Amino acid sequence: MVKATLTVLPGDGVGVEVMASAQRVLDAIGKRYGHEFVYHEGLIGGIAIDKTGVALPDETIKLAEQSDAVLLGAVGGPKWDNPTAKVRPEQGLLKIRKHFNLFANLRPVKTYPTLVHRVPLRADLLAGVDLLFVRELTGGLYFGPRQEQEDGDSAYDTMLYTVPEVERVAHVAFRAAQGRRKKVTSVDKANVLAAMRLWRKTVVKVHEDYADVTLEHGLVDSCAMHLLTRPASFDVILAENMFGDILSDEASVLAGSLGMLPSASLGDGRFGLYEPVHGSAPDIAGMKKANPTGMILSVAMMLRYSLGLETEANTIELAVESALADGIVTADLADAQTKTVANTDEFTEAVLARL
Ligand code: IPM
Ligand code: MG
Repeated sequence: MVKATLTVLPGDGVGVEVMASAQRVLDAIGKRYGHEFVYHEGLIGGIAIDKTGVALPDETIKLAEQSDAVLLGAVGGPKWDNPTAKVRPEQGLLKIRKHFNLFANLRPVKTYPTLVHRVPLRADLLAGVDLLFVRELTGGLYFGPRQEQEDGDSAYDTMLYTVPEVERVAHVAFRAAQGRRKKVTSVDKANVLAAMRLWRKTVVKVHEDYADVTLEHGLVDSCAMHLLTRPASFDVILAENMFGDILSDEASVLAGSLGMLPSASLGDGRFGLYEPVHGSAPDIAGMKKANPTGMILSVAMMLRYSLGLETEANTIELAVESALADGIVTADLADAQTKTVANTDEFTEAVLARL
């Protein structure tokens, strides 16, 4: 039996609703397998700005420091969307990733056979689509030296990488590939950017330790195309921070909906931050329409990576798959053939019933 302390950060918009679903699933897992999950709820994002003036209060950092893992819903919304604002909800996300040195962001993407009709690509392209993004998360364009000028006529952001930064995330990608189909596609723009030439050179060097894994390099623009023309050819995709951000949203199309994708952000130890790839979806917030799958599968990743509970993680993944296979879907996955559209709670209950 495991006793784990978890920091729960629902954040904004649908983050609150999908977090409630995820906790119900986690509680059921605790009951069934005899584990105890203790939750400490904290503030992040827009709601934190409203209550404390900053997107990530020190209080939240302290809570997280005393936890085995962090579960995060989503941040942001039109209320805080002023481009000239000094405090923005997204800063909370970037800051918590950086504070805990969570440099590797794992984003698995699968096409479930029962959702093929929801993907706007030919079905024959989708057989066997099962890929894993390893996105570098604390360096690159989102963290390089920058100049922001509110009223000036120039501004810049810098793509800066050091060899150790590339090495550590490359190791994560190669190790992940060893447990999968043993192929890594490293995404860069080495034909234009110096930082990306350093990236490629470093990945080639790290690959020397992994003779059993095939390494290929892809330029980000051509990878963006190949994700749609031959998605099943990818196994692990290793990418720079912004490239991974963009390509993983693109790849969500392969899963039928952005609402499907979970993620794990990991550092050197077992501590991790787990969040769905989707955002706060202000257009449907509070309406119980959100697809909680991304958050529920993030909980499964938390059980696997931070708590070492592989069986429990599999139990959740199978329950989600079985609910979807039985045609139980939220609005984002519904079409003219869908008989009944499940709301967030109904979908969650379908998962609970199948655990
Ligand atoms: C994501 C999001 C964030 C990112 C934003 C909200 C800062 O798009 O997690 O993919 O770019 O990392
Ligand atoms: Mg993103």
